[in-house]
Amino acid sequence: MPKRDFLAIPDFSRAELVQLLDLAQEMKRGGYTKRPLAGKTLGLVFAKSSTRTRVSFEVGMFQLGGHALFLSARDIQLGRGEPIRDTARVLSRYLDGIMIRTFAHADVEELARYASIPVINGLTDLLHPCQILADLQTLRESLGTWEGKVIAWIGDGNNMANSWLNAAGSLGFELRLACPEGYEPNHEIFERNAKLTKISITEDPDEAATGAHVVTTDVWASMGQEEEAEVRRQAFQGYLVDEKLMQLAQPSAIFLHCLPAHRGEEVSDEVIEGPQSRVWDEAENRLHVQKALLATLMS
Ligand code: CP
Ligand code: NVA
Repeated sequence: MPKRDFLAIPDFSRAELVQLLDLAQEMKRGGYTKRPLAGKTLGLVFAKSSTRTRVSFEVGMFQLGGHALFLSARDIQLGRGEPIRDTARVLSRYLDGIMIRTFAHADVEELARYASIPVINGLTDLLHPCQILADLQTLRESLGTWEGKVIAWIGDGNNMANSWLNAAGSLGFELRLACPEGYEPNHEIFERNAKLTKISITEDPDEAATGAHVVTTDVWASMGQEEEAEVRRQAFQGYLVDEKLMQLAQPSAIFLHCLPAHRGEEVSDEVIEGPQSRVWDEAENRLHVQKALLATLMS
């Protein structure tokens, strides 16, 4: 069987995504006691910081009977310019899988092309598919299904927004984005998914949030955009998810945020700490969905 990667949500069919989320839920319930990754090692290559991704992958590998190896891109030869394609072929001789978090999405694609083992995208400037799997699990847990649901994305058209677009296209729910001019998501990803499901974009957060079942946002300056932070802070005025905005959504609506969050910027303290917030379940679910992903790709 050829090796499979997970670089983007559409790498899995709709049926495979559902199967993955079912397995994640079984793992969460404690009904899964197998150790399919005994003797296997996952390399974790990080060119950017991480709390959740690193810890959930390390713990997930341990719980599945395997081992995880943290490889800071600064400390391996990749950081000194060893080509990605060489790194991919060498790591493939030792490891059974690679998770990578880096800047350029093309670098992850190149790694996957040259590696003979599964490659998982742990976030690029373009996409954050593992986080979206956790968000989908959280959505399903809280609301039962994504069928007929409206998801409102408020803020930057970043890697999270692009991955929500992919998820909407793959699973068929409605996605409304509210982004300031100049901060829209990737055009190609938007157009492709807008052909598959109902997707709209506005500059008005109220319009996107009205009647929504899920309200979600992310930081205004992502990793690697630190120098733009002040310009972005100005551009995103009016994009705070606060109680006033949440009141426009369904009364049963939930709030999601991939974390880390900046209280008082993209989300108010009241909303993230409030009864509609599911952010801690969402963070926990990273562990369960990624275990399901690892068991699927590596066993
Ligand atoms: N949400 C997320 O990916 O968090 P980390 O940056 O802490 O991994
Ligand atoms: N959009 C954020 C997500 C962090 C998990 C970033 O890329 O920094």
